[in-house]
Amino acid sequence: MTNNISRRLFLGGAASALSVAAMGGASSVRAATAPPKAPLYGPAPGIAKLNANENPYGPSPKALKAIMQASQKGAYYVSDSVMKLKSMIAERHGLTPDHVVLGSGSSAGLTAAAIVAGHKGNILGPDLFWDTTAKVVEVQDIGTIKRLPKLESMAIDLKAMYSAIDDSVAMVQVTNPNNPTGMLIDPAAMREFCIKASKKATVLADEAYNELTDNGDANSVIPLVKDGHDIIVARTFSKIYGLAGMRVGYLIAQPERIAEMQRFGIGWYGLNQAGLAAAIASYEDHEFMDFSRNKVKEAREMVYAALKEHGLTALPSVTNFIFVDLGDLNAETFRQEMAKEKVLIRGIYRDYTNWSRVSMGYLEDVEQYTKALPKVLYRMS
Ligand SMILES: Cc1ncc(COP(=O)(O)O)c(C=O)c1O
Repeated sequence: MTNNISRRLFLGGAASALSVAAMGGASSVRAATAPPKAPLYGPAPGIAKLNANENPYGPSPKALKAIMQASQKGAYYVSDSVMKLKSMIAERHGLTPDHVVLGSGSSAGLTAAAIVAGHKGNILGPDLFWDTTAKVVEVQDIGTIKRLPKLESMAIDLKAMYSAIDDSVAMVQVTNPNNPTGMLIDPAAMREFCIKASKKATVLADEAYNELTDNGDANSVIPLVKDGHDIIVARTFSKIYGLAGMRVGYLIAQPERIAEMQRFGIGWYGLNQAGLAAAIASYEDHEFMDFSRNKVKEAREMVYAALKEHGLTALPSVTNFIFVDLGDLNAETFRQEMAKEKVLIRGIYRDYTNWSRVSMGYLEDVEQYTKALPKVLYRMS
């Protein structure tokens, strides 16, 4: 399965049949299917976009077909498709649909979880985690993010995290695997932590990259929700499923927690038929997930080999991105130099000035990164 297959399936099949019917003629088909001049919907040709942990091999062929079908009913607000996806997710984990809320990406649910927590107290997290949505409590001035001290290993110190849960903490947030480190917490340690910590505060486990790990089910704490613990698990269709632009994600939690978060507008109004159709068609598409996981592994090997060749090291990633130690080089300057080579990567995180995150994209794009690496390192030396 390649991206070209997906594109042919979409443009050559259902789309052209539709446009012929709607506009009546071959010239209309050409107009409808001609590539847009400005890159409205993705990176321009020649740009290696490796800065947002997307999976460019998606949407899968099944998802594209479903998007075409659902878009024809775009006149109608979403309804049954929401119930369908919630039921599929609930059933897979032995839960009820009341344990699930969908959102426009997992960001919607994560933001609602942060606001709910912010009204009760503070959010506790490691020094480095995907804190974009947690920051809403500081922006709205309703709470603060308490962070653990920086660790040399960049691993999350669960013991220190547990000890730091005091009465001011309403929610503990753990991104697992973590972003930007790409590292996974030992599953047994994570389970033990979640059980203990959730007796003191709500635990939010952001598992956006879970399906990219080798044994996703064993690495997840979703079963603890079934056991009745006060744990919220966030998942998304943006990563392995290759649907970042289709905006579907979900939270799994106790029904009373779900109800609290729904008060902040998630669940229906932020959703769209095309995204839901893509998610429904992708949810159990193991062929596409295996394909994507393998591409990511291949890309990671390419990056690790190139880094080694040029004397650099990186953290051991189980995800579709790698956190690279640039030694004494500045990560923002490195980002700017890479951009000159048409390679887009991330710049500095907080005070991690010599750490640089690169996503795994198309293998050709990853090759563009590995080829640009010696040139940029030479220029910066
Ligand atoms: C750890 C983590 N959680 C959540 C998200 C949000 O993704 P989305 O809103 O597309 O589901 C991201 C995006 O990069 C992420 O890295």
